[in-house]
Amino acid sequence: MEIARQHEKVVVVGAGLMGTGIAHAFASSGFATVLVDNRAEALESSRAQIARILDDGVRLGKVEATAADASKARLSIDSDLAQAARGGTLLIETVSEKLDIKRAVLATAQPALAAGAIVATNTSALSVTEIATAVPHPERVIGMHFFNPVHKMKLVELVLGLATSDETTARSRAYSDAIGKTSIVVNESPGLTTSRMSALAGNEAMWMLQEGTASAEDIDTALRMGFNHPMGPLELGDLTGWDTRLSVLKYLHATLGDKFRPCPLIIKMVAAGRLGRKTGHGVYRYENGQRVPASGLKASAL
Ligand SMILES: NC(=O)c1ccc[n+]([C@@H]2O[C@H](COP(=O)([O-])OP(=O)(O)OC[C@H]3O[C@@H](n4cnc5c(N)ncnc54)[C@H](O)[C@@H]3O)[C@@H](O)[C@H]2O)c1
Repeated sequence: MEIARQHEKVVVVGAGLMGTGIAHAFASSGFATVLVDNRAEALESSRAQIARILDDGVRLGKVEATAADASKARLSIDSDLAQAARGGTLLIETVSEKLDIKRAVLATAQPALAAGAIVATNTSALSVTEIATAVPHPERVIGMHFFNPVHKMKLVELVLGLATSDETTARSRAYSDAIGKTSIVVNESPGLTTSRMSALAGNEAMWMLQEGTASAEDIDTALRMGFNHPMGPLELGDLTGWDTRLSVLKYLHATLGDKFRPCPLIIKMVAAGRLGRKTGHGVYRYENGQRVPASGLKASAL
């Protein structure tokens, strides 16, 4: 399916971390894009950030100056959702991860969209099926789950709610192709594909560390060198934060069963405040943002 960009208007709601990246991706791929937030300062900061990404691209020779200017011109910002949504052919909500906020955004925006518009949610864990009940056409609602940072990460998980139609899936795939992403289709389920795999690998690495199977450094090296993963599972856990990891594992344990039972070492680390990079200490120690060499948690300390 081909998307005729000149007839499209993309409405991105939520000018946070993800909304900024998503608006950049569409504007720089030839789509008229409006970015909406109820905080004026978020909109200004987002627009400045998008300009910076484009200017960096020009400086590095990856983007023509005229193309960067055209992308900036295709992007507008608005704090009035109903007004911004007028005539929109694709709406992507990426506001805070709260069901009631997302449903309210959809209910406000939907009546103003073009007939047949696709409504996408970038939720990480909420139910697409439940979000979709906020609008009269749940068959046009889908999850489009992007990854951070959006301008570098190629994947989009297309998440099907109970009512999502084949046509909505096909059009969403075409949008994703049009912005240079690779999409996969996932039926709505806890952790989708990515969080589920990543939680399992991180948990298993912690079980190995707890059992003294290998040192932290060697477990990470095994996955980097043996499987070409850009980061080891313990390094990644330090980056994500073990508190976040633990809450995802608890949710997956409750919904998917015992294989996601959080390793006691993770619970102990969270209790100790060793959350990872953000507290300067996780599996490894960090000073001035740099990992301290040979600082991996030792089996003797467990
Ligand atoms: N951060 C990630 O790595 C990541 C990855 C994939 C998906 N997500 C999902 O994307 C969504 C956004 O995450 P984020 O990290 O960008 O959050 P964020 O906190 O950086 O941004 C959320 C933005 O939504 C705005 N907002 C809140 N209520 C609003 C409303 N009623 N109308 C308009 N704007 C409103 C806020 O002002 C804020 O600017 C969440 O659902 C999150 O689960 C996040």
